[in-house]
Amino acid sequence: MATAVAGKGLEGIVAANSGICWIDGEAGVLAYRGIDIHELAVHSTFEETTYLLWNGHLPNQVALREFQAQLALARQLDPRIIDMLRSFPASASPMEVLRTAVSALSFYDADEKDNSHDANVRKAYNLTAQIAMLVAVYDRIRKGKEIISPDRSLSHAGNFLWMLNGVKPSETATRTLDIALILHADHEFNASTFAARVIAATLSDIHSAITGAIGALKGPLHGGANEAVMRMLMAIDKAGEDPVQHVKAMLAAKQKVSGFGHRVYKTEDPRATHLRQMSEQLGNDSGQPKWFQMSRAIELYIKEEKKLNANVDFYSASTYTTLGIDIDLFTPIFALSRIAGWAAHVIEQLDDNRLIRPRAEYIGPVYPSPWLPVENRP
Ligand SMILES: CC(C)(COP(=O)(O)OP(=O)(O)OC[C@H]1O[C@@H](n2cnc3c(N)ncnc32)[C@H](O)[C@@H]1OP(=O)(O)O)[C@@H](O)C(=O)NCCC(=O)NCCS
Repeated sequence: MATAVAGKGLEGIVAANSGICWIDGEAGVLAYRGIDIHELAVHSTFEETTYLLWNGHLPNQVALREFQAQLALARQLDPRIIDMLRSFPASASPMEVLRTAVSALSFYDADEKDNSHDANVRKAYNLTAQIAMLVAVYDRIRKGKEIISPDRSLSHAGNFLWMLNGVKPSETATRTLDIALILHADHEFNASTFAARVIAATLSDIHSAITGAIGALKGPLHGGANEAVMRMLMAIDKAGEDPVQHVKAMLAAKQKVSGFGHRVYKTEDPRATHLRQMSEQLGNDSGQPKWFQMSRAIELYIKEEKKLNANVDFYSASTYTTLGIDIDLFTPIFALSRIAGWAAHVIEQLDDNRLIRPRAEYIGPVYPSPWLPVENRP
């Protein structure tokens, strides 16, 4: 029996129980398994955070070492996946390539047909390691550079930068990316995670769920916003415009400014706090504070004018650019972190599954409407 009609975009609807991530949008709190994101950003690593998301508690020293080793061991791509990456048109964006390649990864996963809890955990290790590799490998292929083999002694963040750039990353670059990955690792029932849970709940497979999640993340209202922010900053810079005047004109034209607003947070997005700091610090250290300064001017204006706060995507844009990362890799980098949360949610969904199948409030033509022979139709 259908019950109440949810508000547009399911705003405020609690869709299921979950023990993974807690958000208090009024107070600006985000916690993974009860631990505040600020603590994790300062003290933790992406690997430890992923363990926490998947297991419900922080690992001890032995468990952490084993987890890191297992994730590093999973850094393998079947050569046929690399051949496939080479066959894609040069016009394919890294996010489209990631979506398509992740779908194909299932062909070569030994556990492809096994949808048990343990098999999905094994596939989660593989997907976490492989998504990072796919992003780095495709970037080198499209630039005509040789592919770099993974370095299993490096962290997830460090190995990604190594495979992307072919030079050992600095500690600052590795730690900056590591913190960004912690901040992006999970966010409750966001659009891509919800999409993944809907797919998993049909008892399809984890590769299908993650492929769907990547498709959802790609949109500019979700993960695609970080790329849109940087394209805006670069356009302003190229035209020599005043950043505040630029966004003023956007608002006057009723356009949304990417990187602002949030469905859940009514105060500062706690992830933005860290990304703002990193953007400023990196900008100063690298002698190119321009992107941070432009961002800050825009942020202050939008806050004053529209009472909107910067979200996770706003300062990740200038942070990644200052790290020397191409714009169209920003959303794939979001994915190479969010896989940790997607996998945790898919596994949680399957551990206590029921098909997710809501109802629609019908607003179409009246029932019964007559069926007319084709010659009698207007
Ligand atoms: C995140 C987002 C999709 C949330 O959407 P939502 O909860 O459906 O909120 P709405 O789009 O209905 O916005 C509510 C109001 O705030 C305004 N608003 C929200 N975000 C805005 C933005 N980034 N720029 C300008 N105005 C914005 C809307 O125009 C709307 O105003 P109105 O009531 O006068 O029409 C939305 O804020 C947005 O599009 N932001 C830009 C994209 C982005 O940064 N996405 C990443 C999210 S982490």
